[in-house]
Amino acid sequence: MHARAGSFRTGLTARELDAARPKLVETPWGTMALYLIEGEVLCAAAFCPHLEGPLFEGTLSGATVTCPWHQWRFDLRSGQRITLFGLPLGGERLVRCGVEHDERGEIVLLAPSAG
Ligand code: FES
Repeated sequence: MHARAGSFRTGLTARELDAARPKLVETPWGTMALYLIEGEVLCAAAFCPHLEGPLFEGTLSGATVTCPWHQWRFDLRSGQRITLFGLPLGGERLVRCGVEHDERGEIVLLAPSAG
């Protein structure tokens, strides 16, 4: 299943994703959520770095997800916690995986990098 160290084959293509609701995948780095945002596949930790709330059930607005528990907001592209107005906040970041697509369109995740 693993193409190479530091990557994980999901067995999914972007066509199988729903823009309205992320798809959960179990990876070597924990449960991750695959989002389809404006045609782009983004991958971030499914659970909130605050108190492990179900971030994948959060409200989506563009590439921003708001946690249903305490309304922390994250930019899915940067992992940065942001304010209501999109300004960056320090502290907890959302773990993300890089996303590649193989020649058959399968989504391949890259190991999260620190920061
Ligand atoms: S658990 Fe997500 S904001 Fe608190």
